[in-house]
Amino acid sequence: MCKQYGSTLIHTSTDFVFKGDKPVPLTEDDIAEPINVYGLTKLEGEKAVIESLEKYYTLRTSWLYSEYGNNFVKTMLKLGAERDELKIVADQVGTPTYAMDMAACILQIIFSNMTAYGTYHYSNEGVASWYDFAKAIFDISGTKVKTLPIKTSEYPTRAVRPAYSVMDKTKIKRAFNIEIPYWRDSLITCISKINLS
Ligand SMILES: NC(=O)c1ccc[n+]([C@@H]2O[C@H](COP(=O)([O-])OP(=O)(O)OC[C@H]3O[C@@H](n4cnc5c(N)ncnc54)[C@H](OP(=O)(O)O)[C@@H]3O)[C@@H](O)[C@H]2O)c1
Repeated sequence: MCKQYGSTLIHTSTDFVFKGDKPVPLTEDDIAEPINVYGLTKLEGEKAVIESLEKYYTLRTSWLYSEYGNNFVKTMLKLGAERDELKIVADQVGTPTYAMDMAACILQIIFSNMTAYGTYHYSNEGVASWYDFAKAIFDISGTKVKTLPIKTSEYPTRAVRPAYSVMDKTKIKRAFNIEIPYWRDSLITCISKINLS
């Protein structure tokens, strides 16, 4: 459709296209080597966009949440209210991203009227493990729940996940002059909206 109408496609992809076995922030030039089916299908989607179009922006993001729908923040708030104790994986590290911040970034790209097409990384600033993220959710919301850090091996899931998927955002910040909020500041904004609803 975009090709037919000459429109620009804005496509959302993921940090899970990376293997995530090195503790160095990932740039757009790093080789994508997904380790699970979700990452593989998202990478195939990225390639299909590149093969089909010249006018596209692929934005890879990570650990997306908002006051809408189901996501880690909503799940933790629910579990934290129901349980006395929660075990959270502490050896997977990435960056939470507030969907409202990403939406603002997408609008900024659209209204920039620029043609710097290509693949970009976008998440909030900073670094966290799922344990850090959960602790912050409980601290900010005032939820009293004992939180225990565990290893990935103690929380078996059917899909393997990258251990380190922090993304380098230099390219998008330079290209569109974008200021990215720190993840904890955006989490405070989101939780205040959840509390109001
Ligand atoms: N969640 C994360 O942590 C994360 C991290 C990195 C990247 N991403 C990427 O971010 C994007 C959104 O992820 P998400 O977690 O927000 O997913 P989600 O909660 O499953 O939401 C997907 C949204 O897409 C809509 N949708 C699905 N199929 C559609 C179709 N055929 N036509 C129109 N709308 C359709 C759904 O509509 P309904 O509500 O009507 O079903 C829903 O609103 C995805 O591309 C994902 O790969 C997510």
